[in-house]
Amino acid sequence: MRGPQRITIDGPAGAGKSTIGEQLAQKLGYIYIDTGAMYRALTWLALQEQVDINDGPALGRLALSSEIVISRPNIADGRQYTVTLRGRDITWDIRSAQVTRAVSPVSIHPEVRTVIRSRQRAMAQYGHVVMVGRDIGAVVLPDAELKIYLTASLEERARRRYAELVVQFGQDNPALPSMQQVVSDIQRRDSIDRENMQPAPDAIIVDTDNLSIAQVLEIICRHVEDKA
Ligand code: DC
Repeated sequence: MRGPQRITIDGPAGAGKSTIGEQLAQKLGYIYIDTGAMYRALTWLALQEQVDINDGPALGRLALSSEIVISRPNIADGRQYTVTLRGRDITWDIRSAQVTRAVSPVSIHPEVRTVIRSRQRAMAQYGHVVMVGRDIGAVVLPDAELKIYLTASLEERARRRYAELVVQFGQDNPALPSMQQVVSDIQRRDSIDRENMQPAPDAIIVDTDNLSIAQVLEIICRHVEDKA
C-alpha cells in the first residue's frame, strides 16, 4: 500500500498526540517525530546555560549552535525515543517540571521557531514520517498528505495528565500536584501555545473526549487507507 508519505498530528497539550503518534508510526513502519521534544531540548539547554528565556535573539543563536538529535530508543526504560544534545542523553531531563514551565515562553520566539521549523522540514524530507506538534500541518509541512488535529476538553486533558502523574509520582507522594494545579498548568500553556496552534484548513479534526486510543487510531487508519 502506498499511503500518505507525511502524516501530521497537531493539537493542544494532553490531546493524546504522542501516544497516538507513536502507535500510528509503529503500525505503518514510519518514523515518529515528536517536535515538542525539540523545543524542550532547547529549553533545557537555555536553563543550563542561563540564557534568558525572554531573549529571542539569544535563544535563536543557541538553537543554531546546538544539534538536537532524536533517535530510536536505545534504552528500554519506557522512553519513546532518545534525545541527545552535545553528546548527553537528555531524554528524561526535558520532562522536568522546570523545563515544562519554561518551554512555552521559549517556543514563542520567532527566532527560535525559524531554526527549529527548518530542522523539522529537513527531518521530514524523505517521507514515511508521523510528525507530532502544534503547527506541523499548518506551517511546517503544509503539503503533508494527511493532517490530523486532535482535540479534547480541558477537563479530559487534565484528567489524562493527572493519571500520568499519579503513575510517575505515586498516589501518596506529597510532590504529586493537585488536580487543580494540573488544570491551571494546562490553561497557562494553552494560552501561550495558542498563537502557534491552529489546525490547517485541510486538517481532519478528531475530538478524542469520548474515544479510546484504539478508536482514535482506527479513525486515523481509515483516513490513511482513503489516501492510499
Ligand atoms: O508537546 P509538548 O508539551 O512536549 O510541547 C512542549 C512545548 O513546545 C509546548 O508548550 C508548545 C511547544 N511546541 C510548539 O510550539 N510547536 C510544536 N510544533 C511543538 C511544541
